[in-house]
Formats: sequence, C-alpha cells, structure tokens
Amino acid sequence: MKIDILTLFPHMFDGVFQESILRRAIDEGKVNIHFINFREYSDDSHGKVDDTPYGGGAGMVLRCQPIFDCVKSIRTDDSKVILLTPSGIPYKQEMAYHLSNEKHLILICGHYEGFDDRIRSICDLEISIGDYVLTGGEVPAMVLVDSITRLLPGVITDESHINDSFHENLLDYPTYTRPRVYEGMEVPEVLLSGNHEDIRKYRYEESLRLTREKRPDLLEK
Ligand code: ADE
Repeated sequence: MKIDILTLFPHMFDGVFQESILRRAIDEGKVNIHFINFREYSDDSHGKVDDTPYGGGAGMVLRCQPIFDCVKSIRTDDSKVILLTPSGIPYKQEMAYHLSNEKHLILICGHYEGFDDRIRSICDLEISIGDYVLTGGEVPAMVLVDSITRLLPGVITDESHINDSFHENLLDYPTYTRPRVYEGMEVPEVLLSGNHEDIRKYRYEESLRLTREKRPDLLEK
C-alpha cells in the first residue's frame, strides 16, 4: 500500500513511524509512506497557503490552489483521497479494515482555523478521529496510518486481528502472564486448565461482559 500524507508540517511525523511495528512494516516494504509539503505547490511567490476568511472571522483558511494542484499531480484511478476534519465520519475499526484493502491513500491534513470548503469536492472521504478539535490533521493521519498498517498482510499475525477489540463489535477479553499471583490478585483458574474449549468460552463470555459493562453501545450494533 502507498500512503501520501499532505502536510505543512512533515517533521511532526518524525519518530512516529521510526519505531516498532510501523518501522518494520516500512522497512519490509509492506507500506510506502511519503510526506508532501503542499506549500511547494503554492502558486504564490511567497509560498502562501492560507488567506483570511470571506465574510470575516478569526484565523486563516487554507486556500484551494496548493491542495488542488498537489492532489491532481499524485492522484490515479487507484487513489482514495481522505480529508481529516472534526466534521468527518467518526473513525472506527471497521473503516480501518476497509481502508487496509485500498492501494493508494492520500491523506490531507488541514491546519490553522480551517480550509476552503471547496477542498471537500476533491475528496472521497472525510474522517474525524473523535469529537474534539486538534490543532491539525497530522495526529489524526498518524492514527489512520497506524491502525491501517497493522492490518496489512504480514505486518502482525492474523490471530492478533481476530483478538482485537472491536472485532465483531466486542471489546477484547482480559489477558494475563506470569506470575500466577501478583499482590494477592490471581489469574483466573480456567486459563491454567489447559482445556481449550473452556478457555475459548471463558474469553468470549468475558468479552461480552466487558462490552456490556463499558461499551453497551457496541452491542446494539
Ligand atoms: N482535525 C482537527 N481535529 C480533528 C479530529 N478530531 N479528527 C480529524 N481531523 C481533525
């Protein structure tokens, strides 16, 4: 999979993709990530990417031109153009599964007060990572890249996906490791039984119980 990230602040991504599973996925060529500073596409002699809002109001608004030209130059029939915005569709694990099947993602990170609304016209999808406002789309883009990359074939084991929270709208079951007793807290007996069917049943019931307790909204789906 190829991912192009359109951002005015590519250095915000330093470090995030240089450790652990994401780094390995990049090194092994499972995902190909490019940062494009769309300021380079500005037709303004000073590289201006924003302007004051029509009608007045606080802050600056991202102009159409640099982003339109940038997207036009990299978009192909295989591309999915995604705008990160708090007014987008709430991001869910199911969406990560769908997006992990795409060949080419173009992620547009807004910044400042907002962007010219006409930028929406060149996007296939608008995504929000939650009901709060961040300083820009960079952190949301990191969230998307992380959640999608781990689903790409060979990045982590298939079994790990099946056990993920939100798989079939259930939270993950609790896990334990040695020691058997820690500060008086014991590992549930059934996990030591070696009976795989009992363990499977216990885990499913724990998933159900936790989901009912913490996220009843998931069960309604
Ligand atoms: N940009 C600023 N806040 C955001 C959010 N919550 N989700 C996606 N993009 C954003």
